[in-house]
Amino acid sequence: MNTHHGTILYGGLSSLSTQLKKQEWENAQYTLLVDENTFQHCLPHIVGRVEAFEQANFIEVPVGEEAKTLEVASQIWLTLLEDNADKQHVIINIGGGSICDLGGFVASCYKRGIRYINIPTTLLAMVDAAIGGKTALDFGSVKNSIGQFYQPTLTVIEHSFLATLSPSETVNGVMEMVKTAIVTDPMLYAEIIATTSITKQQIQSVARNKSRIAKVDPYDQSVRHILNFGHTFGHAIEIVYKLPHGTSVGIGMLAALYLSTKKLSLPQTTYDTYYQWLTSNVSIPKFTLRDIEAMLALMHNDKKNQDSNIHCVLLQEVGAAVINIEVSDNEVRDALLFVAK
Ligand SMILES: NC(=O)c1ccc[n+]([C@@H]2O[C@H](COP(=O)([O-])OP(=O)(O)OC[C@H]3O[C@@H](n4cnc5c(N)ncnc54)[C@H](O)[C@@H]3O)[C@@H](O)[C@H]2O)c1
Ligand SMILES: [Zn+2]
Repeated sequence: MNTHHGTILYGGLSSLSTQLKKQEWENAQYTLLVDENTFQHCLPHIVGRVEAFEQANFIEVPVGEEAKTLEVASQIWLTLLEDNADKQHVIINIGGGSICDLGGFVASCYKRGIRYINIPTTLLAMVDAAIGGKTALDFGSVKNSIGQFYQPTLTVIEHSFLATLSPSETVNGVMEMVKTAIVTDPMLYAEIIATTSITKQQIQSVARNKSRIAKVDPYDQSVRHILNFGHTFGHAIEIVYKLPHGTSVGIGMLAALYLSTKKLSLPQTTYDTYYQWLTSNVSIPKFTLRDIEAMLALMHNDKKNQDSNIHCVLLQEVGAAVINIEVSDNEVRDALLFVAK
């Protein structure tokens, strides 16, 4: 288990190129992981800009969750063995959260741990998945059921990759940005929901906030739980309505804000402002009573609950989140009925 915390390079590929000329990378050899989309849109921008990668191999893995399997991990380990990769070998993750989760896990196990570098290419990965050292595979049809805490040595934020991202992937990232900002940083939150397009500065600020929390609680045992804001409701909405993760979390945050007004005296205006912003970005499905019961059942299965009661992260005010608040089934029903009105 590595204990250092990864360094974030906000200067993009040129700062990576400079960094890799340093002595600690002298004997490094590199394997680059890409998927079909990052092979097409991102790899060409990296080749030629990072000299250290001139001799590197690359491996193309399936797109999305399909990459996060033991089979894909095994294939990479086999390739590394065939290439006689040793402890100096470095895995370079060029992609969204799926590739970062996969490549981080592969690196954590190979020869009991080799270095890896995240080059996130989605907004969600730049502000969230590529930071904090959680790695994972999906196993036994349970998402993220196999994984380790294992920090990347470097995470490189190269904003230009966002140019080719689809609008729905952008919404996914924006929702996680709002999530991190609303639980940590009132000014940043206000700024993000007031802008029509996300700035470099805002991406950096969210990445810094995520990194700060992950450093305080590297093994996700306490304060880091605030980053699950909106996710208990969000996961249930994602499954029942088959909506994208970000959209579901966006609606989940609305339900959590509603409960926060009821249970922690969050000002009603905070709910109203968020409601205005959310509904100008996504549409909320009409929840039927049967769907509400299905969501409630899923929330009871949520791994974050220590006993049979549902626990949520709620807000006292923007920037002041409280973890582990118990909510009754009727409070959940009330919140879901209210937000879908
Ligand atoms: N480890 C963590 O802390 C953490 C946190 C949040 C999410 N995650 C994980 O991250 C994954 C989701 O990540 P994601 O939303 O980045 O999804 P993803 O990695 O599946 O990427 C989304 C899509 O965008 C494409 N893509 C990536 N970069 C592109 C670019 N620059 N231009 C065009 N297309 C591009 C990908 O090929 C894919 O089709 C999930 O598996 C989730 O569990 C992990
Ligand atoms: Zn999320």
